[in-house]
Amino acid sequence: MSTNSGSSVNSGLEGVVAAATQTSLVDGKNGRLVYRGYDIDDLADHSTYEEVCHLVWYGRLPSRRELTELEHSLAIQRELPKEIERLITEAPGKAHPMDLLRTAVSALGMYDPDARDNSPEANLRKAIRLTAQVPTIVAFFERLRSGLEPVHPRQSGNLAENFLYMLFGKEPDLETARIFDICLILHTEHGLNASTFAARVTASTLSDMHSALTSAIGTLKGSLHGGANERVMETLLKIDDAAKARDRVNEMLARKERIMGFGHRVYKTEDPRATILRRHSEALGRRTGQSKWYDISREVEKAMREDKPDLYPNVDFYSASVYHMMGIPIDQFTPIFAISRMAGWTAQLLEQYANNRLIRPESEYIGPPSLKYVPIDQR
Ligand code: COA
Repeated sequence: MSTNSGSSVNSGLEGVVAAATQTSLVDGKNGRLVYRGYDIDDLADHSTYEEVCHLVWYGRLPSRRELTELEHSLAIQRELPKEIERLITEAPGKAHPMDLLRTAVSALGMYDPDARDNSPEANLRKAIRLTAQVPTIVAFFERLRSGLEPVHPRQSGNLAENFLYMLFGKEPDLETARIFDICLILHTEHGLNASTFAARVTASTLSDMHSALTSAIGTLKGSLHGGANERVMETLLKIDDAAKARDRVNEMLARKERIMGFGHRVYKTEDPRATILRRHSEALGRRTGQSKWYDISREVEKAMREDKPDLYPNVDFYSASVYHMMGIPIDQFTPIFAISRMAGWTAQLLEQYANNRLIRPESEYIGPPSLKYVPIDQR
């Protein structure tokens, strides 16, 4: 379809290159994901979320001293302003945690010491501060809505350990904390996905980082994006039995329903994050005696392979069973995605501000061409 300017409408902006980034490469043809030159497999095996934060923000892996400094900086900024604690306390317990997170991040913008400073130095400080604060928001709300006392963050332990400690009110076991850390690494950054694009659009008007992240969180919530991990778990719970998985999938496909956790705009082969998470889902299932969720996932995958061989599992498919086996409530899966994506979103925002141009595409007008105004009592 041709637009006012003579070019054609590109539905869903597929294939459009709308920004340059050094932060990540999503190689859809070969199923590779690379952060600042480093393959995701390598980072998941050897790195930590804090180290990956340094990588995406500063463009290189840190020295030991730089890593210690960043870990310290993240750890000492975990507490929330009292006003934000009050906002969370007064929020309805039945609110979706993504609505709570979106609102709290927006509100944090009013209390940030750098609120009116959009300089690169202030924005880097905000990136670090927000990455430290967001896990506290998520855990604080979870405790309150479950009728439990909120657990304040400690300045010890990495972000993964401290988050699980705040969520469950006890020290996490080291293996679980490590798998959670790997989940954070895998979800850190992913090219110009919908929420990063939304964040960049907001920043491109020279609005502030909290506003851009509020846009991003609202965009991540949708079930075609980050919200898919919640829908995946709902599907697994509904199937409930690996032996029934094939029939249930076939019925859903016959009803033309989407199987959540499958398909991707960019990957035309398996999402490399799914490959890693599949392994962890299996291992966690065995270790915690909950292999059922891995087994159902495998059967769903096999059924999809037969019926829809071009649709591969994406990151959300196996993260769902992993989080469920850790005891995390389903509607906290997407907020956890947001916790990890904070580093990626803010890294891309720093790039946007550093080389900004207003993002302003066009639309094709398809309404009536020319109507004459009719006074109200003659209509
Ligand atoms: N289950 C069943 N069919 C699917 C599907 C899924 N998960 N994903 C895509 N399809 C089908 C569509 O129905 C469509 O079929 P049609 O051409 O016969 O109508 C075709 O594949 C293309 O889908 P489309 O929505 O145009 O592709 P897209 O590139 O716009 O969408 C996603 C990408 C991710 C939105 C899509 O694959 C999806 O909805 N997946 C499920 C949600 C999900 O897991 N999201 C997380 C992504 S990380």
